[in-house]
Amino acid sequence: MITRKSKREIEQMQAAADVLVACHKEIGKMIKPGITTLEIDAFAEKFMADHGATPEQKGYNGYPYAICASVNDEICHGFPTDEKLKDGDIVTIDMVVNLNGGLADSAWTYAVGNVDPVGQRLMDVTKTALYKGIEQAQAGNRIGDIGHAIQSYAEEEGFSVVRDFTGHGIGPTIHEDPHVPHFGLPNKGLRLKEGMVITIEPMINEGTWESQMDDNGWTARTIDKGRSAQYEHQIVITKEGAMILTDQDR
Ligand code: MF3
Ligand code: CO
Repeated sequence: MITRKSKREIEQMQAAADVLVACHKEIGKMIKPGITTLEIDAFAEKFMADHGATPEQKGYNGYPYAICASVNDEICHGFPTDEKLKDGDIVTIDMVVNLNGGLADSAWTYAVGNVDPVGQRLMDVTKTALYKGIEQAQAGNRIGDIGHAIQSYAEEEGFSVVRDFTGHGIGPTIHEDPHVPHFGLPNKGLRLKEGMVITIEPMINEGTWESQMDDNGWTARTIDKGRSAQYEHQIVITKEGAMILTDQDR
């Protein structure tokens, strides 16, 4: 079922998003060679607690951590580990904040020290692809318009779009209808309506889009060891276009 959110629900999600954005900004300052993703996980959980919030991912379908931390060829749902991040790595931190029942979901890829030019371009293209998708997230447009904008741009740049994971509706639980693929055909699929709250979260790979699952049953990684980047925003469809709840430049 696809729901449209009330003003009050959107305000609660915005409040959660404010905590999430502040947490991402702190994590952005912490990420340097030598830090471990378990340290970032502990920081995020404490940051949320200090702001009266909880990490919604922890315990979600049995997921064991506050954050997902996906390094290099890990596409998404990477487990935090006690391995030190190395100069040149890229790491995607994904988390969902629950503040008084309002949920906010945003993933961001960070460079660890100096990343080589292809890795940097992969990150830049992925972020631009997200914003090209958001541009299409307008009442009256269709879900396929979002995916098509992302896919055509990313592929033109020589990268590939992950098929096995999509954006999604959100609230009152993390994953609600509709699915929001990051590939597709213009003018196809569900029509977007005012009040829908969805995530757009393209995962873009430097090599092939195909993924395989780790033995932990959660972590997806590329089959060719190529790197994967991801940027995710949570947005509301409004009369005036997409309103980004998880904007970091507000
Ligand atoms: N934030 C993730 C997403 O965008 C949610 C992952 S569910 C978890 O879909 F259990 F892995 F945390
Ligand atoms: Co999400």
